[in-house]
Amino acid sequence: MYVNGETDVYCVIGNPVKHSLSPILHTFMFEYYGINAVYVAFKTDNIDIAIEGIKALNIKGANITVPFKRDAFRLVDEVDEDARFLESINTIKNVNGRLYGYNTDFLGFKDMFEEYTKFCDENDNIVVLGAGGVSVSVIYALYKLNIKRVYLLNRNPIKGRKIQKKFKGMMDIIVSDLNDREILSSSNIIINCTSVGLDNNEMPIDLDLVEDPLIIDVIYFDTPLVKTARQRGLTSINGMDMFIGQAYYAFKIWTGIEFSKEAAENLLGDLEL
Ligand code: ATR
Repeated sequence: MYVNGETDVYCVIGNPVKHSLSPILHTFMFEYYGINAVYVAFKTDNIDIAIEGIKALNIKGANITVPFKRDAFRLVDEVDEDARFLESINTIKNVNGRLYGYNTDFLGFKDMFEEYTKFCDENDNIVVLGAGGVSVSVIYALYKLNIKRVYLLNRNPIKGRKIQKKFKGMMDIIVSDLNDREILSSSNIIINCTSVGLDNNEMPIDLDLVEDPLIIDVIYFDTPLVKTARQRGLTSINGMDMFIGQAYYAFKIWTGIEFSKEAAENLLGDLEL
């Protein structure tokens, strides 16, 4: 790659960011499509100043990651309708010093879910584990897919009820705790949106309580939940396709190009995660 005075800069801003796969993926895609741009990771303790920096340095686009997605939502100049509902953004486009915010996480999940649930029934019981920001994006994607009912299991019931309220009139959300036997045993699809297993060897639920559901984790590598489910013969997928999907939509917002998801899968599939 040839970097020169005209090279555009894109970035991911978060804390931590050193494990982010975004610089590898986007820099690869810039090169693949012949765009004179690089993509780097910026760790910050001060999201307000970091977002100002995007303008000051004419950074063309950014992804926003943990823990700044909600802060970034209030710091950009404009957001689209989806981001307004989610009150959280993961993508910024800088157009002549004006920052536009988008949420492509829910789009990445939507595509992944559609891909793996082609043969599912509309009466299937869908269970979402966790009630943080990712859960809201995932439930919003399910809403966009016309799903009418979701079971939301979380450690803290107050947070679950808050999400229930947010979606009132849009879809039916039944809130319970993480080891609700009845809900887990009748589940057809379980989506893990808790951070359990991200950096430890724990699992959010007891797999003895489930029958034969499809298990989806939003974390991009195989968590203990995904691995154990597979060992037990359950179909189980990690969140790599969701990660690639959110990057695909961010790249499209920045460049207008729909990158090859296959090329992305090949690139990231070769990494030791
Ligand atoms: P994100 O933006 O990734 O969704 P988050 O808002 O911090 O991150 O949400 C993480 C989710 O994982 C929360 O729902 C959290 O449960 P609480 O709402 O009860 O805090 C859940 N979580 C994290 N650690 C957990 C644990 N050890 N057991 C059960 N749930 C856990």
